[in-house]
Amino acid sequence: MNILEMAGTAGNALPEKYKAMSAGEMEKAVWEIKKRLGSRLYIPGHHYQREEVIRFSDVTGDSLQLAQLSARNREADYIVFCGVHFMAETADILTGETQTVILPDMRAGCSMADMADIDQTERAWTKLQQLFGDSILPLTYVNSTAAIKAFVGKNGGATVTSSNAQEMVSWALKQKERILFLPDQHLGRNTAFDIGIPLNEMAVWDPHKEELIHEGERKDLKVLLWKGHCSVHENFTTANVEALRKEQPAMNIIVHPECRREVVAMSDYAGSTSYIIDMIEKAQAGSSWAIGTEMNLVKRLIANNPDKQIISLNPNMCPCLTMNRIDLPHLLWALESIEAGQIINPIKVERKIADDAILALNRMLERA
Ligand code: 13P
Ligand code: SF4
Repeated sequence: MNILEMAGTAGNALPEKYKAMSAGEMEKAVWEIKKRLGSRLYIPGHHYQREEVIRFSDVTGDSLQLAQLSARNREADYIVFCGVHFMAETADILTGETQTVILPDMRAGCSMADMADIDQTERAWTKLQQLFGDSILPLTYVNSTAAIKAFVGKNGGATVTSSNAQEMVSWALKQKERILFLPDQHLGRNTAFDIGIPLNEMAVWDPHKEELIHEGERKDLKVLLWKGHCSVHENFTTANVEALRKEQPAMNIIVHPECRREVVAMSDYAGSTSYIIDMIEKAQAGSSWAIGTEMNLVKRLIANNPDKQIISLNPNMCPCLTMNRIDLPHLLWALESIEAGQIINPIKVERKIADDAILALNRMLERA
């Protein structure tokens, strides 16, 4: 069952009561619950979360930082994860048995993570082993289901995030001759290219046609990219970059590596959400920036850096729809459900899957 199917199950609809409350009433109620629960409650928030939610986070971070922080927190009984489903699953895998992870809205999935399911992956693996023998190490972006992480862990591989991808791909290519990189072809291609692997040594595995697409010779292939992508970051195009270079040539362009290779190649800088925040915060007053990433983050950077000119690389960009599912009413509903002793949307990864997935996560965390 994928996330959208799970979200359709009974009991997931926001109760009417929250629709009748004002923002002020909800905010007051959230602050009061936070105060009452104290350190028993922990709210991590990803940088792509809405402003109305992120202000209640105990910590904010990129995917790697949130995974590290979840692994370290042994104090909280309840971890209300303001992010998307794969992040909450990761938090559940990395936290203790007695800690409960809650996702305020089960519809907060990730379309990229849904692009690789475990059956497709098992079939691809069998086929790729026939083509290449035991010469492949699987790596998965953390934006993947727990089942994919478990598959990777069982097969000696690791997870990666956008902030440690170069280090992890370099490590993987020291273990085996080639890698299978799931599920984001763009992060995989951008990372491999940056560490010196030419494009003709990369191939794309199409999970629907079950075929490997490549131009170079098969024996030379080092990086097998799963044909998945982020539907948000694919909306930044070379046409956006060309238009901006023409209209505002002095503007710096900074993008997330989930953007296509051509867009990254034409930009000035590329890196994770934390990298982007860091670059903008340290930039000189008066400098100008076009950012190619999710809109909630771009808007926050604009608000927090009034001394710089900041715009979105794509003027028609929207927020990530699934990140946006976590809003103030759902946050309050999740918190009230804790106090009522009837927790909504607990995220519990099956023990067997968690045991294998943690192998992949730990191989990354040991190096991060
Ligand atoms: P990072 O925060 O790790 O850069 O990831 C971005 C993302 O798309 C999370 O879904
Ligand atoms: Fe998934 Fe892209 Fe949204 Fe990140 S921005 S959660 S990768 S759909």
